[in-house]
Amino acid sequence: MADYMVEETSGARAIRYGNLAVAIHWLSAALILTQIYLGFAFGNFPKGSAERAELFTAHKTVGVVILLLALTRLAVRLIDAPPPYPAHFPKWERRVAVWSHRTLYFLMIALPVTGLAAVSKGANGGMTELAGGTWFPVVPIPALGGAHEVLAFAMIGLLGLHILAALKNQFVTGGPVAGRMPPFRATDKG
Ligand code: HEM
Repeated sequence: MADYMVEETSGARAIRYGNLAVAIHWLSAALILTQIYLGFAFGNFPKGSAERAELFTAHKTVGVVILLLALTRLAVRLIDAPPPYPAHFPKWERRVAVWSHRTLYFLMIALPVTGLAAVSKGANGGMTELAGGTWFPVVPIPALGGAHEVLAFAMIGLLGLHILAALKNQFVTGGPVAGRMPPFRATDKG
């Protein structure tokens, strides 16, 4: 089956993601970095403390927003596909980029889902409380919750590589790829 992100090319000039994709990307990035902080922060407070409860509610809330944004982004991709890579961007690098993005999407969905499974035992009528007195359904499979922490470290590792690749492409090799995601600059260089 042809893989349009990998096989198609667009000539020398970089083409950019659409505005909605760019907005969702940077909003998700800010929320995920906040979420990583929250995930480590609430454990510093004793169980039953008000601070811990507050940070944990924030962690659940941000997780649900990340999940909804990832699903929105996947839906937007159906009507506004990612731009094809420039013709001279090596095929192996395209494959690495495409598969790392797919893995990031998997993690943006799997992390909240396993988090909602982890809180399912203490759920109130199948729901968990979020910020502002709102409620969200849990995933009633407690065993899935065990994967949450491992997936969190996978996300941190992959994100580190994603950020390094973007910075290297823009500032070291001056390549065509980072410019697909404003405010990185589009270049004509290979
Ligand atoms: C923190 C959470 C982040 C996540 C989950 C994430 C995820 C993604 C995903 C899935 C894509 C593919 C585009 C799409 O379908 O929307 C992408 C593209 C991109 N991201 Fe991120 N990103 C994050 C943070 C960052 C940061 C901090 C930078 C820059 C330092 C960055 C730079 C880029 C660039 C330049 C592209 C375009 C690369 C290409 O199309 O091959 N991202 N990102």
